[in-house]
Amino acid sequence: MKVILTADHAGMTIRNEVISLLEEKGIEYEDTGCDCSSSVDYPDYALPAAKRVASGEFDRGIFICGTGIGMSIAANKVKGIRCALTHDVYSAKLTRQHNDSNVLALGERVVGPGLAREIVNVWLETEFEAGRHANRIGKIATYESDSE
Ligand code: RB5
Repeated sequence: MKVILTADHAGMTIRNEVISLLEEKGIEYEDTGCDCSSSVDYPDYALPAAKRVASGEFDRGIFICGTGIGMSIAANKVKGIRCALTHDVYSAKLTRQHNDSNVLALGERVVGPGLAREIVNVWLETEFEAGRHANRIGKIATYESDSE
C-alpha cells in the first residue's frame, strides 16, 4: 500500500504521529505537508494530494488540519475521492468496510495523538466489504460522471 500524507500548519503533531506509525508498519508513504513556518491554506495541500490518490499514484491519503473539515471538504471535490472525516475508531472501521474511503481526514484540534494513531491504524487495516456497499458507492461514481 502507498499512502500520501499531507497537513497544514495546524496538523503538525498528528502528522508526526502518523509518520511514526507508517514507519513502524513499514508502509510506503510520501509526506507533502507544509513546512509549517507560517500559516498556509489547506486547499493548497488537500487538492494536489487528493488528485494523486484519484489518479491511482497512491492507494490512500491521510490529510490533517486543525479540524479536518477543510481538508475533507477540499478532498471530496476531487472526482473519485471518498474522504472520511473521522474522530473515533468505530467510524474509522466502518468507513472502510462500507464506504471504501480512500482518504482519511483528521483534526488535530479535535483529537489527541494517541487516539489519532488508533484511528489511522484501524483505517489502514480494515478492508472494504463490497457487496451491497459497492452498489452504493457505484451510485456516487455515476453521479460524478454524469455531472461532468
Ligand atoms: C487553520 O487555522 C484551520 O482553519 C485549518 O487547519 C482547518 O481547521 C480548516 O478546516
